[in-house]
Amino acid sequence: RLVYVLNGPNLNLLGKRQPHIYGHETLADVERDCRKLAEELKLELRFHQSNREYELIDWIHEAREDGAGIVINPAAFTHTSVALLDALNTFEGPVIECHISQVHKREAFRHHSYVSMRSDGVIAGFGTQGYQLGLRRIAKLIDDAAK
Ligand code: DQA
Repeated sequence: RLVYVLNGPNLNLLGKRQPHIYGHETLADVERDCRKLAEELKLELRFHQSNREYELIDWIHEAREDGAGIVINPAAFTHTSVALLDALNTFEGPVIECHISQVHKREAFRHHSYVSMRSDGVIAGFGTQGYQLGLRRIAKLIDDAAK
């Protein structure tokens, strides 16, 4: 049971970046917590972040080859990227979209997500805990698909 956790632009600055919105935890903290939970759930994890759209697309293609699941925080690409949506539409496994902040409480341009047209579930406003909720859900979806 392999899961890709993918993070989009500016999330490398998590913890330093607008902490009143995104909190004080760093992406390394998030990765550490995800790895801990993955061990418990017996998931193998590939954890990546990039500021470049094409790298995220390449990882989605890799996840497709691997028959994995995806938890993705596409960050600002959520609201702009048809290319990410197209990449996810080539992917057949479960996809959970995760946003740290409650995007629906924020600017109107954050209310629309291209990625949501493909996501099997969306988490928003649970802080970095959302990643763990996403992993639990992906584990369940992978198990259900194997039944
Ligand atoms: C985000 C929300 C997006 O609107 C924003 O562009 C981000 C992070 C979140 O995790 O809350 O970079 O995806």
